Amino acid sequence: MKAMKILVFFFCCLSLRSALSSHSRYDAIFNLGDSHSDTGNYPRTDATAFLVIKSLPYGETFFRRPTGRCSNGRLIVDFIAEAFGLPYLPPYLAVAKGARVRTGVNFAVTGATAVDPSYFYAQKIGQQLWTNDSLSVQLGWFKNLKKSLCTTKQACDEHFKKSLFMIGEIGENDYMFSLLSGRSIKQLRAFVPLVVGAITRAISVLIEEGAVDLMVSGQLPVGCTSMFLTVFQSTNESAYDKRTGCLKAYNAFFKYHNNYLKQKLENLRQQYPHARIMYADYYGVAMSIYRSPKHYGFYGGTPRACCGGGGPHNFNTTAVCGQTGATPCKDPSAFADWDGIHFTESAYHHIAKGLISGGFTSPPLLS
Ligand SMILES: *[C@@H]1O[C@H](CO)[C@@H](O)[C@H](O)[C@H]1NC(C)=O
Ligand SMILES: *[C@@H]1O[C@H](CO)[C@@H](O)[C@H](O)[C@H]1NC(C)=O
Ligand SMILES: *[C@@H]1O[C@H](CO)[C@@H](O)[C@H](O)[C@H]1NC(C)=O
Repeated sequence: MKAMKILVFFFCCLSLRSALSSHSRYDAIFNLGDSHSDTGNYPRTDATAFLVIKSLPYGETFFRRPTGRCSNGRLIVDFIAEAFGLPYLPPYLAVAKGARVRTGVNFAVTGATAVDPSYFYAQKIGQQLWTNDSLSVQLGWFKNLKKSLCTTKQACDEHFKKSLFMIGEIGENDYMFSLLSGRSIKQLRAFVPLVVGAITRAISVLIEEGAVDLMVSGQLPVGCTSMFLTVFQSTNESAYDKRTGCLKAYNAFFKYHNNYLKQKLENLRQQYPHARIMYADYYGVAMSIYRSPKHYGFYGGTPRACCGGGGPHNFNTTAVCGQTGATPCKDPSAFADWDGIHFTESAYHHIAKGLISGGFTSPPLLS
């Protein structure tokens, strides 16, 4: 039995290595996004919301110190860097001016929106925003950094041809801040073309700058998070999916965004036939965890945060993870939900595996 396990492990990892050493090997990764992929930019801005991530238990599991990641440990982007044998991406705001970081940089900022803040201010919900470092600001940072990486178009093309560009997850905050300000799901549907438009514009810019391989992620099933299950709870039983306990209408909305995005990616593929635009199905891979939590080593039953201040989903708006009244669970690896909105390292690891070699990226990341 033990020999069998070792053999299976041997073959799995051997095939992953040979797949990596062939065609799809990257010299660098550049990432844009929000808190699901921020590796430390947010605490380096002068933002004043959600500073709990600057202290333990954030970071308790792997790094053993808070790094600015919104989890107990590593994120999807960290596991993807590991898979390609690259160092963890340094946050852009920690990179010294003019430093030549050849293996990639992370531009993601916690709380970032896809659409520019001016839109939210015009809608009178600008006050809700945690940061102004939206997708277009992150693109500006990329252009700044580019100057230190390469100076001629040829040199840039050479470097970026061997780089993986990850866009997203981004857009969740656009919707979340709108919902928290009282917008209905119905109103939000009209907002989807704006959010997706911001994402597709960013993709075009990156391709014009020399990106060839791009991984664009869709939305997660946010209606399964402990935060949504608490804040948008319903007394109507039929609001919930029987199998998972997730909020059906919210999940249907995030799926709607994904379908809209996938259509637009198809247009981009026609517009830029030389580019390899991959769609990363965050929704599908996370849903497989919510459907069969025990299969992944998590507790079954209704989704519950590892770290929180009580209540049926262990999410309490007046005592969120990191604040007085909230405590972390003993074994985060038994939970998928970390703090009500972000995942634990274990869950991010499963999601990353699904994207890298589990068939949840299309066309596949490894081919
Ligand atoms: C974002 O910009 C607005 C308007 O310029 C400003 O009032 C606000 O303080 C900024 N927010 C953050 C978090 O920096
Ligand atoms: C519960 O929700 C269903 C479908 O969403 C709806 O048809 C029904 O009228 C609701 N029931 C109540 C009591 O609100
Ligand atoms: C939420 O947190 C507050 C402050 O710590 C506490 O008084 C309250 O009992 C908590 N609510 C639940 C449902 O645990």
